[in-house]
Amino acid sequence: MLEELPVSAWKGPYDAALKARAVSSLERGAVLFFPGLAFALADAEKPFLDAGVSDGRAKNISLERGKIQSSSLTGEKAKALTAMMERFGSHAANLVHDLLPYAQVERARTSFRPVQVKGRRYSKINDDRLLHIDAFPSRPMRGRRILRFFANVAPDAPRHWRVGEPFEDFAKKFLPRVGPHFAGKSWLLGTLGVTHGRRSLYDELMLSLHDTVKLDASYQQNGPRQDIEFPPGSCWLVFSDQVLHAAMGGEFALEQTFHLDVSELTEPGRAPVKVLERLSGKTLV
Ligand SMILES: [Fe+2]
Repeated sequence: MLEELPVSAWKGPYDAALKARAVSSLERGAVLFFPGLAFALADAEKPFLDAGVSDGRAKNISLERGKIQSSSLTGEKAKALTAMMERFGSHAANLVHDLLPYAQVERARTSFRPVQVKGRRYSKINDDRLLHIDAFPSRPMRGRRILRFFANVAPDAPRHWRVGEPFEDFAKKFLPRVGPHFAGKSWLLGTLGVTHGRRSLYDELMLSLHDTVKLDASYQQNGPRQDIEFPPGSCWLVFSDQVLHAAMGGEFALEQTFHLDVSELTEPGRAPVKVLERLSGKTLV
């Protein structure tokens, strides 16, 4: 479940045996854990460790194409927060590039999560304290992978995660329960501009799996799981479309999302799209 890697530099070259261990564990659904890799904040950035930097509407502050969203900050302070998130994103991209064998990894959104996870109120579908796999209603992946790199930048609190059973075991239980696919829906959402491009059957299935597992109170309470605490000053990397996960507690995390094609993988057969195609007997993309 947790593969601890002795990495302390944001750039390679890394040892060949370490790289081999990293990619095989990651693709098999482990969380790569970097206890000795800390993302350091400059003194001038420490005031950003405050829930007040969020505008209070979205869960996270996001950075995409050089612009931050959902922050209460303006002017020079907004610029400095943008620079901190940008620096984190490029560190994460260097590490992913040098540690993993993938030739084409797209750097997507960067996020800063400045609000304590515990005690927040959400609808069940939006509550990431419930075990789930990542699938986003407005971003069809069409089988592409979601790889996410996290850093706990809190001064003293661990980030508490829960992870569940292997993807294939989970899919075998939940696939028979997901709702029937409505053939015209993805076309409609794409045409209306609700989604960025059209959802594939894969996207519909992943969204249904995401919702069905969150709504299953008995599975959430009694299903296979393991709790993990990521200490302050540590990082972790995970295929979040494959690993059942929940963020149970903690504040001040940074996250960088990457997307990549299944063909980049060393073992493409372990990708959710391949597992779901095998189990359902259908072509999903
Ligand atoms: Fe998630």
